[in-house]
Amino acid sequence: MSTVVLILAAGLGTRMKSKLAKVLHHIAGRPLIRYVYEAALSLFPERIIVVVGHQAEDVKAYLNGIHNSSCSLEFALQSVQRGTADAVAAAKPLLVNYDGIVAVLSGDVPLLSPPTLNELKRTHMENAAAATILSTEVKDPTGYGRIIRNQDGSFCKIVEHRDATELELGIREINTGIYCFDSKILFELLDAVTPQNAQNELYLTDIPKLALATGRRVCLLKTPNSQEVLGINDRSDLVTADRILRMDKCHKLLLAGVTILNPETTYIDLDVTVGQDSYIYPGVRLEGKTIIGQDCTIGTGARLTNCILGNNVTVKDYSIICDSTLDDGVSVGPFAHIRMGAHLQSGAAIGNFVEVKKSSIGKNTKAMHLSYLGDATIGTGVNIGAGTITCNYDGKQKHRTIIGDGARIGSDTMLIAPVSVGKNAVTGAGSVVTRDIPESSLAYGVPAEVKKQL
Ligand code: UD1
Ligand code: CA
Repeated sequence: MSTVVLILAAGLGTRMKSKLAKVLHHIAGRPLIRYVYEAALSLFPERIIVVVGHQAEDVKAYLNGIHNSSCSLEFALQSVQRGTADAVAAAKPLLVNYDGIVAVLSGDVPLLSPPTLNELKRTHMENAAAATILSTEVKDPTGYGRIIRNQDGSFCKIVEHRDATELELGIREINTGIYCFDSKILFELLDAVTPQNAQNELYLTDIPKLALATGRRVCLLKTPNSQEVLGINDRSDLVTADRILRMDKCHKLLLAGVTILNPETTYIDLDVTVGQDSYIYPGVRLEGKTIIGQDCTIGTGARLTNCILGNNVTVKDYSIICDSTLDDGVSVGPFAHIRMGAHLQSGAAIGNFVEVKKSSIGKNTKAMHLSYLGDATIGTGVNIGAGTITCNYDGKQKHRTIIGDGARIGSDTMLIAPVSVGKNAVTGAGSVVTRDIPESSLAYGVPAEVKKQL
C-alpha cells in the first residue's frame, strides 16, 4: 500500500525561547528534523510532505539541501499555527487525490527508530485500521497527551495534559504524536475537529476519537522503547536527547575497540569514525565528518572538527584542529591550533602554542613552540625554532612562504612573505627575512642578509 509521510514542523517552539526554528536545533551534531526525515525514508514513502510555518524558509532550505532520495520532498505552508490538526489540514490540497496511508511524524520527536516506525505501519495495515497510534509508557508523563483505554483495553480517546482530569493525569501511557492514518478518513474527519479545549487549538488527537464515533477501527501500538519517542519541547529535552545519542555513539565505539575513558564528558558526532585501539581522554569533542585512524591518542580538551587522522597520531591536551589532515605518526599540542586545510605529513610534530593555517608541513618537520605558520609550504625534516612567524598578510593580501627540505629556522625568525628559504638553509635567531634565501646558506640580521654559503 502506498505511503505518504507528513512531518509536522510548523510550530513556534515557544518553550525553546529561541530565534532558531525548533526543528533546526542540533542534537549530536545534526538538526532535529534530519533525524525525523531519515526515519521517514525508512518507510520507503512515495512522498514526504513537511508542514512548515515558523522560519519556513530556513527549514525548507535545510531539507532541500540534504534531500537525496528518489521520493519527492514537498512542503505545505501553515502560516498560522492553530494546532496539530490544522497542520495536517495544511497538507490537504496536496493530497486530494491520494488514497493510501498517511504516516504523521512530529518534527520534534527525533529519536524514533526505523524498526518501531515500520512496526507501526505493519500494525496499521494488518488491522486495516482507520488510525493507528504509537503509544508508550513513561515515568513522568507531564505535558504529554494521555491514552485513555476502555475496560477491555481497547482505545477510547487521547486527552491532552492540560485538559486531563486528576484521574487521567495519573495515566502513564502517552501519545507519542506518531500515527498512521487512512488518508480518506483522516481528511474527511479533519473538518469535524473543533477547538473546544484548554489551548483553544485544533488537536490532531481528536481524530482517533472521531474515527471510533463514526464506526471506524482505531489501533494502538505500545512501544517499550520510550526513549525513542521523547518529544523535544525545551532545551532541557534537547540535552536529554543529545545525551542519549552521544552515549549510544560512545557505546558503539567502545564495543568496536576504542577506549573512551569517560563517555559522560565525550562528545562524538554520529558521522565520526574512530579506529581500533585509539584512546580518548575525558572532555574531548570530535565533530562533523572527522575520521580517526587506529592507535591514536586524543588528549583532554581537544576539539577536532572535520579532520582526517591517520594511524598513531597523538593530539595532546587542549588542541583545536579544524578541516585538516594529519598523517600517520603526527604529534600535535598541547594547546595547538591547526586549521583551514592544513596538512601535517607523517611524523611531523607541532608543539605547544603553535598555530598552523592553510599550510603543508613536511615529513618529520618540527615546530615545537610558540609559532604561527600560515600559508606556508614546508619541506621534510625542517626545524622551526621557537617564536617563528610567517608574516603572511601585508594588510591587503595573503602571501605564501616556502621552506625547503632540511632548513633550520632560528628562534624568533620573521619570514616576510612572499618569501622562500632554500633547502638546508639556516636563519639566525631574530632574523627578519625579507628576501629569498638560496639553498644551503646562512642568513641573519635585520633585514636578514645571506652571510655565507654553508
Ligand atoms: C503533541 C500531542 C500530544 C503528544 C505529544 C508527543 C496534540 C494536540 N498533542 O503535543 O498528545 O503527547 O505531541 O510529543 O497533537 N505543529 C505544527 N502546527 C501547529 C502545532 C504544532 O506544525 O499548529 C507541530 C510542531 O511543530 C511539532 C508537532 O506539531 O513538531 C507537535 O506539536 P506540539 O505543539 O509540540 O505538541 P505537543 O504539545 O508536544
Ligand atoms: Ca511537542
